[in-house]
Amino acid sequence: MPLKFGTSKAIAIAFGVLTVSSIGGMFTMIILFKAQTQNITMTPPPTLPPTTMAPPPDMRLPKSLVPQKYEIVLGNGSNPNITTPNQTMIFTGNSTVHFQCAQKTMSIFLNSRYLNVSSPVVLNENTKRNIKVSGMKHRDDESDFLELELMDPLETGGNYSLFLSFHGEVSDNLEALYLSRYTDDLNTLSLSIPCMLRFIAATNLQPTDARKVFPCFDEPDMKAVFKLTIIHRRETRALGNAAPYGKNKFLYDEWQYTIFRATPKMSTYLFAFAVVDDSFKSITSPSSDTDRNCVHFFVISLDQLALPDLYPAAMENWGLITYQEGFLLYQEGVSSLLHKEDIATVIAHELAHQWFGNEVTMKWWNDLWLNEGIATYLSYIAVDSVEPTFNIKEISIMNDLHDAFREDALASSHPLSPASKEINTTDHILGMFDSISYSKGAIVLRMLANHVGEVVFNKGLQMYLKAFQYGNVEKDDLLKYIQMAATQNRGNKAVRNTDDIAGFMNPWTTQSGYPVITINTTNGQVYQKQFLFNNSANSSHWLKKQTNKKNTRFFTKNGEWILANINCIGYYRVNYNPENWERLLAQLQKNRHSIPLLNRGQLIDDAFNLARAKLVNVTLALNSTLFLTKETEFLPWESAVRNLEYFILMFDRSEVYGPMQTYLREQVRELYNVFKNDTDDDRVPQNDHSLQYTQLLAIKLACSNGLPECVEMAKQKYAAWMERNNTNSIHPNLRSEIYCQAVAAGEKEEWEFAWDMYQTSSNTSEKEQLRRALSCTKKIWLLSRYLDYTLDPEKIRLMDVASTIYYIAQNSAGQALAWNFIRANWDYVSQGDGAMLIAGVTSRFSTEFELEELMRFQNYDLGGASRAVSLAIEQTQVNIQWVKENKDDVLRWFEQKTSSVRQKEY
Ligand SMILES: *[C@@H]1O[C@H](CO)[C@@H](O)[C@H](O)[C@H]1NC(C)=O
Ligand SMILES: *[C@@H]1O[C@H](CO)[C@@H](O)[C@H](O)[C@H]1NC(C)=O
Ligand SMILES: *[C@@H]1O[C@H](CO)[C@@H](O)[C@H](O)[C@H]1NC(C)=O
Ligand SMILES: *[C@@H]1O[C@H](CO)[C@@H](O)[C@H](O)[C@H]1NC(C)=O
Ligand SMILES: *[C@@H]1O[C@H](CO)[C@@H](O)[C@H](O)[C@H]1NC(C)=O
Ligand SMILES: *[C@@H]1O[C@H](CO)[C@@H](O)[C@H](O)[C@H]1NC(C)=O
Ligand SMILES: *[C@@H]1O[C@H](CO)[C@@H](O)[C@H](O)[C@H]1NC(C)=O
Ligand SMILES: *[C@@H]1O[C@H](CO)[C@@H](O)[C@H](O)[C@H]1NC(C)=O
Ligand SMILES: [Zn+2]
Repeated sequence: MPLKFGTSKAIAIAFGVLTVSSIGGMFTMIILFKAQTQNITMTPPPTLPPTTMAPPPDMRLPKSLVPQKYEIVLGNGSNPNITTPNQTMIFTGNSTVHFQCAQKTMSIFLNSRYLNVSSPVVLNENTKRNIKVSGMKHRDDESDFLELELMDPLETGGNYSLFLSFHGEVSDNLEALYLSRYTDDLNTLSLSIPCMLRFIAATNLQPTDARKVFPCFDEPDMKAVFKLTIIHRRETRALGNAAPYGKNKFLYDEWQYTIFRATPKMSTYLFAFAVVDDSFKSITSPSSDTDRNCVHFFVISLDQLALPDLYPAAMENWGLITYQEGFLLYQEGVSSLLHKEDIATVIAHELAHQWFGNEVTMKWWNDLWLNEGIATYLSYIAVDSVEPTFNIKEISIMNDLHDAFREDALASSHPLSPASKEINTTDHILGMFDSISYSKGAIVLRMLANHVGEVVFNKGLQMYLKAFQYGNVEKDDLLKYIQMAATQNRGNKAVRNTDDIAGFMNPWTTQSGYPVITINTTNGQVYQKQFLFNNSANSSHWLKKQTNKKNTRFFTKNGEWILANINCIGYYRVNYNPENWERLLAQLQKNRHSIPLLNRGQLIDDAFNLARAKLVNVTLALNSTLFLTKETEFLPWESAVRNLEYFILMFDRSEVYGPMQTYLREQVRELYNVFKNDTDDDRVPQNDHSLQYTQLLAIKLACSNGLPECVEMAKQKYAAWMERNNTNSIHPNLRSEIYCQAVAAGEKEEWEFAWDMYQTSSNTSEKEQLRRALSCTKKIWLLSRYLDYTLDPEKIRLMDVASTIYYIAQNSAGQALAWNFIRANWDYVSQGDGAMLIAGVTSRFSTEFELEELMRFQNYDLGGASRAVSLAIEQTQVNIQWVKENKDDVLRWFEQKTSSVRQKEY
């Protein structure tokens, strides 16, 4: 899955290899079983007479049994009718798992959760004799073990099978087998009947939810073949990992049996199916060059399904990739042009997983970066090769670099590849889906590719794929094959370093954090240590001191400067002696082009973060933004805006904010004017995505810091839209910012209009932009109302709850409200992404009082978000200290820089 949630979405179809999308039409569903009259409790399954069990090994399944094939039948319903959506929805099924015994045992351990399991039958497939089951019980802890005790042992080398019947409940919260709802607008228009609520059943099983759909060996290295049969209503259609048999339908009364072919050997978390309206249309033909190229690049064909509800943005299920609609569907003229990039990147990421993740899978979740880091890195390469004008490599690499740098600068970060025994519960596993696995993974791979040369890197990946097809790997396997490729290609000009690749990579994968390298150009000394925001945290990682006696490269004379880490290939920060810094900043102001673009952004980022870690004076960081008055490239601006966001969060409730806004307004004035004519006329720079990003950034920065012509522009455009209601002439690229700024500057009417539009629009892209804009109001009572709406899934979909609250918390008027709100409603709101909520609401925390509140909150059962709370506590401590030490200097600096402006204004 991709890590980031999008902030804008789009609908309609231009992309997709084989796309299935919702068009509407009559619909009922599926596998549902007779309208339930009895209340069943899900957790404790019926137990046979209690027996004594062998003590559990640990949270991991014993390796004594090796699954080979599952035959699963799901459905078994007799009267499903979900036109009444809130009836209890039960699914039933049975499964036979065939396995080999690798070590003699008297018990069988599987994973099962929330399933009512019965009728176990164990068969010796060699002798065709049954083996009696003397007991079956469900362990009531985080292991989710279903334990069967046998009368006779399973013998080493023997082949056996286990049959189980089970039933469970279709979930309402986007987990496991869940129900997705949408209203059928087209039908409404044509038949003028009220909006019809429609349903889709879909699965989302990564990482440990397969066990909620059928009892299974739910670990990524217990791969098997899956044969699935789904019994569903005639007028619906079932999709699965593999193609169904034939065109002939197996019908029975109102029911249709869809029997799928066997899947390749794969992990349980990749199992998937969906039951959709028969009128979901398949789209086969790529409609643009980009699509065609994308297909060629990956040479693949599979189903890609756009779902109205899904969390995360997409999931790489083998042969049936699922997407949130907004991450697959794009409509020319309605979607922001920039959104195409997000869609292309997400598609490329999921396609890359069909190999890296699906064919070759990590042995255990501690090595998740082998899935996610590789897919993330390759998605940039793929998108760049089909659409170089996106400049995706630079922008995405910069984003990943900064995300990784930020998370990895905390002492509570973890290594890219922690020891497998440290990751044992589902909460730990969920904690691995973070910026370290995705962004640091991608950045470290980029560094490796650069170290050995791309030829070797690509060759190594190919060999690795071939060697481990349908198998499992750990990090050393990857490095071994890169090494083999390097050794084989020694002597080739494009090959760089070929020795001891594992030795090169191990520090990056097994230690947490990253180094800061300090170069002193007066005496030539270079040394490195771990970079931590909390400088007092002691760490022996990354320590290295080197007096460069022979190597005099680092001396400089009269006015020369040194710049290290060209194009930011290395995953480290660089600090210099003050003289070199001064010369670099002077160069930026004099002629910035002699410093490469990525480094212009990185110098700003390093200066700000070194200041946060107290390695340089905060005024140096602020000085690094002075040259921006002349800069028109996106990356340096973006880098400054990201870093100043921290200043905004720390100071927007204080007296620093006034002079700071004045400074930013003056800095961006020129940039705003570069695009002013375009913006005023609803135009965007043609064919240059990076300029389009800059235009958007200029509007955002100018309006949010009160540049009058910007605020006026936003208000006017929005007012024109309100007046003409259904005709919106604002350029799709600019809508998100203009909506937000107009709602921020506006009153109740503007907000109500946005809410009406949000509710009535059927366009995903438009809805996304409005959903964010609604959080921009400065009126506390409106924000409070908006928060309440997040508890009602008919108003705000569950998958959107976390990001909506996140948006509200980013608004200084909404932050305290949001913090109270998530504590009062934690169980509901944390279902989507608890970690994102915590990060959002605590991002301004910088007082002892807030720290105490956060520590009290840590005592709750926070599930997968508990790591996020630890991070937030550490971050808050850092913030408190930082504000104490820097506030006066920062205030003085902004006052100094703006005194001339203020004189003009008075
Ligand atoms: C499994 O379920 C299917 C569908 O209900 C049923 O036809 C089949 O007989 C079941 N298998 C067993 C062994 O009960
Ligand atoms: C499903 O419910 C609708 C409305 O309550 C009813 O008209 C229909 O007959 C039901 N279908 C079945 C198969 O029970
Ligand atoms: C569905 O649930 C709502 C609220 O939970 C309740 O008011 C309504 O009566 C329920 N409808 C049915 C048909 O059970
Ligand atoms: C799970 O991992 C933690 C460390 O992350 C360890 O302290 C604990 O003992 C492990 N628990 C089990 C049951 O293996
Ligand atoms: C750099 O080296 C000079 C000369 O040895 C020394 O005086 C100065 O303190 C050093 N600066 C830093 C930042 O290490
Ligand atoms: C940072 O520099 C400013 C002047 O530029 C100075 O007043 C202040 O004391 C310095 N702060 C520290 C911590 O050295
Ligand atoms: C920042 O720039 C000012 C001049 O604009 C200079 O006086 C000051 O020393 C600089 N601060 C640092 C830490 O370099
Ligand atoms: C913008 O429009 C004004 C008035 O039409 C014109 O004078 C000015 O040159 C234009 N600016 C740019 C950068 O095209
Ligand atoms: Zn992924």
